[in-house]
Amino acid sequence: MDKLVITGGSQLSGEVTVSGAKNAVVAIIPAALLVEGICRIENVPNIKDVTVIIDMLAQLGAKIHYINKNIIEIDCSKVTSYTAPYEMVKKMRASYYLLGALLGRFKKAEVAFPGGCDFGVRPIDQHIKGFEALGVAIEMEHGVINASAKQLTGSQVYMDVVSVGATINVMLAAVKAEGITIIENAAKEPHVVDVANFLNAMGANVKGAGTDVIKIKGVEKLSGGTYSVIPDQIEAGTFMIAAAATGGDVLVKNVIPKHLESITAKLIEMNVNVKEYDDAIRVSRMEKLVKANVKTLPYPGFPTDLQPPIVVLLSIAEGTSIVTEGVWDSRFQYVDELKRMGADIKVEGRIAVVEGVKKLSGSPVNATDLRAGAAMVIAGLVADGRTEVHHLKHIDRGYENFEEKLKILGANIKRVKDTDSD
Ligand code: EPZ
Repeated sequence: MDKLVITGGSQLSGEVTVSGAKNAVVAIIPAALLVEGICRIENVPNIKDVTVIIDMLAQLGAKIHYINKNIIEIDCSKVTSYTAPYEMVKKMRASYYLLGALLGRFKKAEVAFPGGCDFGVRPIDQHIKGFEALGVAIEMEHGVINASAKQLTGSQVYMDVVSVGATINVMLAAVKAEGITIIENAAKEPHVVDVANFLNAMGANVKGAGTDVIKIKGVEKLSGGTYSVIPDQIEAGTFMIAAAATGGDVLVKNVIPKHLESITAKLIEMNVNVKEYDDAIRVSRMEKLVKANVKTLPYPGFPTDLQPPIVVLLSIAEGTSIVTEGVWDSRFQYVDELKRMGADIKVEGRIAVVEGVKKLSGSPVNATDLRAGAAMVIAGLVADGRTEVHHLKHIDRGYENFEEKLKILGANIKRVKDTDSD
């Protein structure tokens, strides 16, 4: 495995272009299973999670054609298998989207419980509840979810928790169901809207995505078409925070500023300059960073996936900040790594108290998960001296050309073979 070696102290400056949204595309690709015809998907990020999900579809019998590294054509017309064993799904949490997509396609699915980032219990009870409401019988044994229905019938589904995955999964199962499905207390994340837009572009009838009530009128058939994935909100936020942390001046291009409002607001509160353009955001900082309290929440709240990066920023801001994790039970595991770099943070359950320090100091650290990995890189960029970020497999899952993009902005960062790890 590789590691990143960073020498801190450079202020990031220049322009960076954000890639397509990981959490949209990992649902859009399985959604192609519902389509009779060729789906041409553009603005696909070239990341490991995409390779993994593409590979799963290919194993099910889909024909995949790469036009270039960011445009793919998927033809699922010859797929006959509805079985996704553990060996296939273990590398990725979002493989649970195969359940909804295969159910929608075959009214049957056999999918093993997935893997993915570990930050506490990650139940799928709301996915199951939604499928059952559509008339699906579910059995779980030997780590496999067996789902089948004589017919999928539209129904009313109330989500007990706001869940991105459950909202999308029920949408996938419902687009070709008989009648109307109404999802209440639905997730409103940009990637939920993007999946709905993709399905509509292929001929589905989904209304209300982006609000907490989504109405899906079943259609008989989805046909092929072309769709371009939205820019990645979390990648954009990561670069915004990196620019602020290094006291730099960066134009983050190919973004939807509306998706970034919660981040923009927090940065401004912390003394950072943020200027919005139609499809870009400029972030610069000359003043000292000051404390802010952050609570992560479902969209449009502050995203949990940017909680580790913002904690790095708060760790070098003047004053005491309180960060409350409002989505996951256990998403502060990376804090121990940050403390080794000199951060002063106390964690109690879902709350972190961050005392700003004058500086961080470079050290070897682990990327404990995807976003924690990005946070370690930002910490390395501001720290004194040399930081080594190990376990890059997490970062590679979700950020396209991360270190190249940072290098162009002036970071002193390089990827080298990690002889210390397997
Ligand atoms: C998605 O995960 C993202 N992953 C995560 O991003 C992100 O952290 C999360 O949404 C929240 O925004 C993908 O889109 C692939 P949820 P998901 O269902 O869908 C509880 C990243 O770094 N819950 O919205 O799995 C759950 O325990 C990744 O890119 C239930 O109780 O998350 C959590 O507390 C990491 N029952 C909350 O809901 C369920 O059936 C939100 O989970 C489902 C979820």
